[in-house]
Amino acid sequence: MENLGNKKLFIETLGCAMNTRDTEHIIAELNSKDNYETTEDVADADLIIINTCSVREKPVAKLFSELGQFKKKKKPNAKVGVCGCTASHLGKEIIKKAPYVDFVVGARNVSKISEAVQNKGTVEIDINHDETDYEFAQYRNSLYKVSVNISLGCDKKCTFCIVPATRGEEISIPPELIIGEIQKAVDNGAKEVFLLGQNVNNYGKNFSDGRDKFNFTKLLQAISEIEKLERIRFTSPHPLHMDNEFIAEFASNPKICKQIHVPLQAGSTKVLKDMKRGYTKEWFIDRCQRIKSLVPEVRISTDIIVGFPGETNEEFKDTIDVINTVKFDQIFNFKYSPRPETEALHMSNQVEDDIASARLEEVIALHKNHQVELMQENVGKTMNVFFEELKPNGEIMGFSDNYCQIFVEASEELLGCTVPIKIIHANRTSLKGEVVAKEN
Ligand code: SAH
Ligand code: F3S
Repeated sequence: MENLGNKKLFIETLGCAMNTRDTEHIIAELNSKDNYETTEDVADADLIIINTCSVREKPVAKLFSELGQFKKKKKPNAKVGVCGCTASHLGKEIIKKAPYVDFVVGARNVSKISEAVQNKGTVEIDINHDETDYEFAQYRNSLYKVSVNISLGCDKKCTFCIVPATRGEEISIPPELIIGEIQKAVDNGAKEVFLLGQNVNNYGKNFSDGRDKFNFTKLLQAISEIEKLERIRFTSPHPLHMDNEFIAEFASNPKICKQIHVPLQAGSTKVLKDMKRGYTKEWFIDRCQRIKSLVPEVRISTDIIVGFPGETNEEFKDTIDVINTVKFDQIFNFKYSPRPETEALHMSNQVEDDIASARLEEVIALHKNHQVELMQENVGKTMNVFFEELKPNGEIMGFSDNYCQIFVEASEELLGCTVPIKIIHANRTSLKGEVVAKEN
């Protein structure tokens, strides 16, 4: 007999929003067959899972040091599993290197988790495995938000990126399944959906049942018809697929949050070509300016890689130029990290580490100045804030429509409500406000 009712699960999630969603699926799938309670304490766990990221070298190195720690702390019979992108790309190697690992389940094989737990030595890492019509059991981290995958994998071949090798080719999830999943969550109180895909706005090019193509703009329109759903967000879109029709929908659809990720990677058209990104510096700036002209309050975030092979000082200055032109609200900066199974790994002209580090510092410093300036512009404005969390200091926290994080001293009765808030103070990454009047 299984020891039902009192099993403890410790699960650590590294990496992107999609991994966070995969972790929710893992928890729900395990609980559909068994009874697990999550714990923060490895020493107390019966099952230990690490959901890995392989996009840069550091998290991979971290995996093995973490596994070593788990081995020391774990209960003698506790099982250890490795999931996610590093599981996909290292597979059996993980068990060879760390024989106390019981199973390995890749990023595209989450539906097999319960079976894997039961069968020591399981390695499920097929990157062509089709989970697009698999109905995952439901679990949400948040009362008001639901994350929903709309596509799996990625068909782009950005020369620095390992993701296509770990998550396989791009397949879209049928719109009716996406809408059904969102509707279920909304019926259970969700107000906001976060649509996820590695290349989210390329949606609808390939379905596994061979049906006709669809597109991301149409999907957004269909989702926004769901009654009682208040907010739609998505990540990660690709600048190449930001056509005018999409930008018009983004601007005019009141349910779409006015915050958008537009991943630049590099400012130089030559570097962008070497990265196989498919757009130029001018196209990128034009897309951002078009979005800003139609949505003046928009907040734009981006990803930047410095020190891509062959990037000269002058080419790096193009990145600085784009940052100064667009003035991003948030930048995720990375130093180029050579990855297996990517084209850039074999490029001969790798940039020296101290040069890449200096470029990274320059981006960080410039961006900090922009952040301070941009956040300050909010002071005195009134924003509609959806409150979702009570903080230990008694403040309540929420997000504006353009996704500024806002803290207010107010009654927790406002949780779950959208309320106009007057901004009274700006920090570099968040705002403080006060209640103007209550709605809802
Ligand atoms: N479209 C994906 C991109 C995944 S990788 C998404 O959903 O976010 C996330 C970011 O990591 C990329 O945009 C890129 O800026 C960065 N990245 C990817 N490979 C990298 C590498 N080899 N070195 C440094 N940064 C990298
Ligand atoms: Fe990676 Fe480029 Fe796809 S960054 S996830 S190959 S769009």
